Amino acid sequence: MFARLAGTGHFLPEHILTNAELERRVDTSDAWIRERTGIRERRVCSADESVVSMATEAAKRALAAADLPAEHLDLIVVATTSADRAFPSAACEVQHALGITDTPAFDVAAACSGFLFALSVAEKYIVSGAAKHVLVIGSDALTRMCNPDDRNTIILFGDGAGAAVLSASTEPGILSTHIYSAGEFASLLGADHPNRSDEAFQQEAWLYMRGREVFKVAVEKLAELVEHTLAFHQMKATELDWLIPHQANYRIIQATARKLNMPMAQVVMTLEKTGNTSAASVPIALDVAIRDGRIQPGQTLLLEAFGGGFAWGSALIRY
Ligand code: COA
Repeated sequence: MFARLAGTGHFLPEHILTNAELERRVDTSDAWIRERTGIRERRVCSADESVVSMATEAAKRALAAADLPAEHLDLIVVATTSADRAFPSAACEVQHALGITDTPAFDVAAACSGFLFALSVAEKYIVSGAAKHVLVIGSDALTRMCNPDDRNTIILFGDGAGAAVLSASTEPGILSTHIYSAGEFASLLGADHPNRSDEAFQQEAWLYMRGREVFKVAVEKLAELVEHTLAFHQMKATELDWLIPHQANYRIIQATARKLNMPMAQVVMTLEKTGNTSAASVPIALDVAIRDGRIQPGQTLLLEAFGGGFAWGSALIRY
């Protein structure tokens, strides 16, 4: 039994935050941001939008694409680290918003790699026969966790959600998933949950990042990851049709593509217009390239992500 991608969807808030607007808020420039990251603009949630509302919208689009009523879902997994509430989980709230009940629903926390971790869980449920249809969502609103005065972080992140319906099939779909974690890097990237009331703590709860060091480890781990994923299948990079990377930084993506000897024309990029949407970035890129017709049935896709934890992961998929 395989888990196949039956439908995908994504949602981005309407409000656009451009580099020009950031120039007015902090000591930065459009040229610096574009040169160092490749980002021109990102989307930001309005006051009445949230991780749950974005996730629900993306989920509805994925269910419609899969032509599957929500009632048929056996499991809902939401990857997020920025939900408004510690509990109930975002997944429980999404389940309710989809108008269903009883379906097991839980969150997975693996920061920017969350979607790959959630996908890995969903795949195991399907392959083991425990579920037929699983809804996997990545949804994050990291702009709310960034100190608006911190030019190191505020330029990088955007909000959004992406979703995929996985269904059991006898035809190959997800060929394998590979996930890794290394907790010793916690001091390089993280955010404390603002669940304490003292003001001093609240001030320090913003997302922190030592960008240059994160960059270095990300490039190194992603190179190992894609190499290992291909070796696992005794596959050559030339057999890949598309690389669908986490959209954190153009230069990190370029380094991974170079490692694979893949031209950038075979790399799905949304970064310029979305920034880093954390757990949402891979499923958004996946959905964009499916909907615009770049990704075709039968093609082979390599998904990868790296983020806080550190946690990183890949999936090799026959679409
Ligand atoms: N605008 C203008 N200048 C800035 C700036 C900004 N927003 N942020 C930092 N700078 C300055 C620095 O202060 C530094 O100045 P100095 O040389 O006078 O000390 C200079 O620009 C270079 O900073 P550095 O941190 O070395 O830049 P960089 O080339 O490493 O780029 C990042 C910074 C954050 C874009 C890059 O390190 C990165 O993308 N890292 C990975 C982060 C990431 O992906 N995190 C999420 C993982 S999921």
